[in-house]
Amino acid sequence: SKNTLERLKNLRLESMVASDKDDLLLTNGLSYHTIIKWGDKISDQDTFGFNNDFTCFIPLDENNPKDGLLWVNHEYINPLFVSDFNYRDYENPQLHRTKEQVDQEMYNVGGSIVRIREENGQWKVVQNDPHNRRITAKTPIQLNWDTPIKGKSTIIGTNSNCSGGITPWKTFLTCEENYDGFFGETTYDANNIPTHRPSSYGWEKFYSYPPEHYGWVVEVNPKDGTAQKHIALGRFAHECCTLYELADKRVVAYTGDDKNDEHLYKFISSKPGSLKEGTLYVADTENGKWLPLDWETQTVLKAKFKDQTEVLIRAREAAKLVGATALNRPEDIEIDPITGNIFITLTNNKGKNDFHGSILKIEETDGAFDALTFKASTYKAGGEENGFSCPDNLAFDMSGNLWITSDMSGSAMNRADEPYMSFKNNSLFVIPRYGKDAGKVIRVASAPRDAELTGPWFSPDGKTLFLSVQHPGEQTKDIRNPTSKFPFDKDGIPKPSVVAITGDLIEKMNCLHQIEG
Ligand code: FEO
Ligand code: CA
Ligand code: CA
Ligand code: CA
Repeated sequence: SKNTLERLKNLRLESMVASDKDDLLLTNGLSYHTIIKWGDKISDQDTFGFNNDFTCFIPLDENNPKDGLLWVNHEYINPLFVSDFNYRDYENPQLHRTKEQVDQEMYNVGGSIVRIREENGQWKVVQNDPHNRRITAKTPIQLNWDTPIKGKSTIIGTNSNCSGGITPWKTFLTCEENYDGFFGETTYDANNIPTHRPSSYGWEKFYSYPPEHYGWVVEVNPKDGTAQKHIALGRFAHECCTLYELADKRVVAYTGDDKNDEHLYKFISSKPGSLKEGTLYVADTENGKWLPLDWETQTVLKAKFKDQTEVLIRAREAAKLVGATALNRPEDIEIDPITGNIFITLTNNKGKNDFHGSILKIEETDGAFDALTFKASTYKAGGEENGFSCPDNLAFDMSGNLWITSDMSGSAMNRADEPYMSFKNNSLFVIPRYGKDAGKVIRVASAPRDAELTGPWFSPDGKTLFLSVQHPGEQTKDIRNPTSKFPFDKDGIPKPSVVAITGDLIEKMNCLHQIEG
């Protein structure tokens, strides 16, 4: 096996050239099949939602990695495809939305639980399995908090579900990111007087739900679809939530706020197996400190907010008051399974002339996840030299190779007047840990036109990479002439889809650690 290890370590990965082709292209050694796409039936009642982002998979039986529950986030909708086929007024959608359109949109966000099974190398949805269900913008969800928010302990729905995570006790976490696009936001002036800033989609015209009910980390029980919002983790544009279980079963959660100059947070629970109680910290990356957002002990917070609930609802303001570092849009977070270092993508910050972003590395003091000090450094910068731009999602495979997706915006990609021209379509990359290519960024998949590859997640045996193809054809202005036709259905309409990527390359890369061990 020493020879096998040497051979695998010398595995040469063929980096693809950048492409602007409207297709999901894969490097040699990989192939894909589509598991499910927007509009597919998952049961007699329900269909798969739009713009799938995060995916994760939990086997029903730990001993069978080929049969389990897939969770998929549905982040947002494109009215042109979902609700308004004459959609034109991109600037003022609230002017012409009808209640029926809004209902259609609310159904198509949230998440899906789908039982999938692999037979003869093909993953297929188990139609009408009792687990199959939708969580939508209308599903009642409990607050996991003792104080009601805006008078409610049960709130209506979830939206903007971007990335997520799973808990050590095998439930799904789905994170509400750009929630202000649906019900707007409450903003405060210098005298702390609130006003409502309208949303871009204008849902509040028909459903006046308080913005404070959104912007949370949501936990979903795979078995029955019940959900709860975790107030203790703060309210902001959560990209993801990545958990680590301490020896005493308390958990540490890392979560970032994907907005220009917002922050990176860490939550340490005070009780085992729960995200209800604990302390939320925010990162000062310049001095390597986790700063507590604790109303009781921080006088600066006591002076501004009436209690801890208000600190958590207005976490962005609280973070700035305690001296958190402004970051360039923190997106996904993963923990290196071998070193325990924490990697955070900082996708870009055009306002600060950071067009290509970077990957931030956090080393907790003494490797302790509940440490309150750390060292921060740039692991890898985006740009021409490393061949990628705007890193977004991350996933480590079983051998500790790091897989990265890019998210250049559709309106800027493939345009001569933007700094992204040479990168062409969004892609999937891997940074191998071993061998001749160790540390290099290698392009292994290229997305269809306007799409972003999201939610990479490995099956428990490491033989399948589940991947979302989100928003293909997003720049379409006329539905009769879409900019993408992926997944190439007869109707020619682009559809967000979840695919399974399999092949020699994935299997080999995932088994290095077994041979080494
Ligand atoms: Fe929904 Fe930050 O990506
Ligand atoms: Ca993202
Ligand atoms: Ca991830
Ligand atoms: Ca992004």
